Amino acid sequence: MTEHVRNQLDGTSRPVLRWAGAKQGLAPTLKSLLPPTWGTYYEPMVGAGALFFCIRPRRAVLSDTNHDLVNFYRVLRDRFPQLKRRLQGLSASVDAYYTFRASSPRGLIQRAVRFAYLNRLSWNGLYRVNRLGTFNVPIGDRLPDRMWSMKHLESASEALMTARLRAEDFRIATARAREGDFVFFDPPYPRGATDGIGFNRYAPETFTPKDHEDLAILIRELTSRNVRVMVTIANAEHLRELYPATFRTILVRSKSLISCNGHSRRNVDELVLMNY
Ligand SMILES: C[S@@+](CC[C@H](N)C(=O)[O-])C[C@H]1O[C@@H](n2cnc3c(N)ncnc32)[C@H](O)[C@@H]1O
Repeated sequence: MTEHVRNQLDGTSRPVLRWAGAKQGLAPTLKSLLPPTWGTYYEPMVGAGALFFCIRPRRAVLSDTNHDLVNFYRVLRDRFPQLKRRLQGLSASVDAYYTFRASSPRGLIQRAVRFAYLNRLSWNGLYRVNRLGTFNVPIGDRLPDRMWSMKHLESASEALMTARLRAEDFRIATARAREGDFVFFDPPYPRGATDGIGFNRYAPETFTPKDHEDLAILIRELTSRNVRVMVTIANAEHLRELYPATFRTILVRSKSLISCNGHSRRNVDELVLMNY
């Protein structure tokens, strides 16, 4: 079954961050594929959390290996008034972008402000670091008139109130998942699966074929514990064959956030696999 996805999310059910591989175009489709009920919602590669913000589950565990990202969500959830005050004072500027980029603040709020500013103005919202872990994405070619909607940020802050947030690897993020819980995995594409510049440079380490194998092993293990799992993968034979043939499989076509020239959006075929 192929679904050509043009769905758009409205208002506050959209993510607050721009993120490579973000699933906001697919979120309504993914929502329609959720199990009817679940206990705790887990999203161990949360990124911009398009599905999380679309469904706003009552109890969630969100994690990612990107420490700056997780710190931003923690500050958004726990220190919204302070974050709001700082962000309100900022406007789009090339000089400010490169000043933020060159800075390495220690305070949690300052780190969150820097992260939000770079995310808002970087080329295609890309988060990419060099081998030393230094953020090195250039500014995008168009500066927005409005930086953030405080109403949108506040709504995201409220959505995060029900979530535990952890900066950790997916291999340990679901250790406490129990029968009836639900896990959504949205791993980066394997190296070479896309041709956008730096598409899968989310974190200092890239997501390797071994990571994909470990993910598939983990999903089999979660399946044996009766945890419900949905995973999205590139439509590639070598990835599909890591999973049991019994998994329900849907082919979806979405627009990728990152493309070769940064202006057009490419159509990408992805598979959504479910163990329920
Ligand atoms: C495709 S993005 C997820 C996009 C997300 N579904 C959204 O809507 O924005 C993949 C995420 O996996 C994270 N990631 C990469 N390697 C990871 C690992 N080993 N464990 C946990 N998260 C990882 C990246 O930092 C990135 O945020």
